[in-house]
Amino acid sequence: MKIIKEIEKIKKIIKKIKMENKSISLVATMGNIHKGHLSIIKKAKEITNVTIVSIFINPMQFNNEKDIKNYPRTIEQDFNLLKKNNVDIIFYPKEKQILKKTKSLHTFVEVPYLSNILEGKKRKKHFRGVTTIIAKLFNIIQPNIALFGEKDYQQLFIIKNLVNDMNYDIKIISVPTIRHKNGLAISSRNIHLTKKQFMLALNIYKNLKYIKKEIKKRQKNIKEILLISRKKLTNKGFVIDLLKVSDRTSLAPFSKNSKKIIVFLSVIIKNIRLIDNIKVNL
Ligand code: PAF
Repeated sequence: MKIIKEIEKIKKIIKKIKMENKSISLVATMGNIHKGHLSIIKKAKEITNVTIVSIFINPMQFNNEKDIKNYPRTIEQDFNLLKKNNVDIIFYPKEKQILKKTKSLHTFVEVPYLSNILEGKKRKKHFRGVTTIIAKLFNIIQPNIALFGEKDYQQLFIIKNLVNDMNYDIKIISVPTIRHKNGLAISSRNIHLTKKQFMLALNIYKNLKYIKKEIKKRQKNIKEILLISRKKLTNKGFVIDLLKVSDRTSLAPFSKNSKKIIVFLSVIIKNIRLIDNIKVNL
């Protein structure tokens, strides 16, 4: 496994890989590699010759300094895990390599509208930060395939739009959310949860499953179902940041014609923001 820190160096390696007619997949991460990433990497390894994992904590996508400071950094452990999982190349650039200017002067790439609804309403400029960094990584690595987890469904959806709008010759593959045995979606943020908060967090997926079951039953309307779910969650002590039902194919609010839908739930437990979603087919 190679660990490459410089853009020029990785570009040379990519050129060689391309000359050998080998396919490249990119798994973009911010480090703190967990089972969710490993399942994405497993998929990448199945479908391409060379798997590249990028590790870059992207300051452009954080809304405040505290959040970026608190982001878990476990680089040695990450290297070991990635090596064990037969990753070919890690691209681990320093911040200065990637962001040569201060944030406010840097060019940005934005998928409008989609970046400012749902999660984007709560986290201004977050998705703009994601798409800017992803565009940069796409330009540097030029992968054939890039894979993203479905836990961040809106991110995945926005990146698909980015690729389509900007004619990137890259196939975007989505990988299902990996969960703990008890249902909680695996996330880097779980590391901050105390045992008690972890137990509380189990209600996130439990509620999503409840909402799915009720939608499928078609006895109550969605508004009613969400109201009950909201009550259940607030009674447990959750601060609900987002609870919305959307059309999965457009991210527009659910309408009578929606067949493929998705329920988004984001909660805050003592400053820790946890997000999850569930798909429902009608
Ligand atoms: O999902 C993430 O970890 C990040 O948003 C990503 C895609 C690596 C971009 O920085």
